[in-house]
Amino acid sequence: MELLKNLTQCDAPSGNETTVTELIKNVACEYADEIYTDTLGNLIVHKKGNGKKIMYAAHADEIGIVVTYIDKDGFLRFSDVGGLYTKKLFSRKVRFLNGVIGIIGSEKENDKNSMAKMYIDIGATSAEEAEKMVSVGDMAVFVGEYDKQGDRIISKALDNRCGCYVLLEALKRVKSDNDLYFCFTSQEEVGLRGARTCAYEIDADYAIAVDVTDVGDTPKCDKNACKLGEGAAIKVMDYSVICSREVREKLVSLAKENDVKYQMEVMTEGGTDAGVMLISRDGVLTGGISIPTRYIHSPCEMIDKKDLENCITLAVLFAENA
Ligand code: CO
Ligand code: ZN
Repeated sequence: MELLKNLTQCDAPSGNETTVTELIKNVACEYADEIYTDTLGNLIVHKKGNGKKIMYAAHADEIGIVVTYIDKDGFLRFSDVGGLYTKKLFSRKVRFLNGVIGIIGSEKENDKNSMAKMYIDIGATSAEEAEKMVSVGDMAVFVGEYDKQGDRIISKALDNRCGCYVLLEALKRVKSDNDLYFCFTSQEEVGLRGARTCAYEIDADYAIAVDVTDVGDTPKCDKNACKLGEGAAIKVMDYSVICSREVREKLVSLAKENDVKYQMEVMTEGGTDAGVMLISRDGVLTGGISIPTRYIHSPCEMIDKKDLENCITLAVLFAENA
């Protein structure tokens, strides 16, 4: 799991995917026939074959913040890059791409509902000092170390480095005549952007998004059938997509026939790359394989190692049997 750890600890907010895609390229090159990057920063790993053209997408970017203003006392105002939960930001630690560390503070302890009332403290005492450390437009991500406890894995950016990990492991293990594209997409967190151009360029017969999904297995949370440790989640729909019946049914039957633990996923908030792959060109048969995840978009997201294995197996089975 050293690879997953390394993937999570890359700092790569949307539009700055290079640090993570370089790492992925170094791992993938041994198993691929062709690797290239496109204009938007998508990394495309191609394993050639004469059969069906299958596109897998896992986004490489993570959520973050961007500096909008530096005040005279050296405090930074910021905006979100991707969906941040304002209520959960207070006193979080962030790291800029140049290594500068900041703490998210709030004007009043009890006013944590508005990002406009929050600031980042980098320890500077004046605008001049702060401007030597960061600039308007600089991005930072959550600091969140990688921990493993039993089968559970905790880290920042498991959304979606665990999806990247699934694709890399599937690439290593798959034996198929199908024409496989493993795409590590850019700018998903700000609007599924990389996958859109990527899907157009590849023009696949089938597309599968591999990403995290919400669970409903913590005290008094919203009802949701997905649980950590209960298997790969096969996507029925999310806010961006209703998956193609053919793909969904194929995934379910492959899971059943091969004793792969699975559960059905209906995610009521948030979208995935599946949403834009589905409507690329004249439409692409699209599905999703998701990793059940607690505390999504926090510095301490949690997944289960067994689910990860089931997702890899299912991705390989689809590639070999589609
Ligand atoms: Co996300
Ligand atoms: Zn994601």
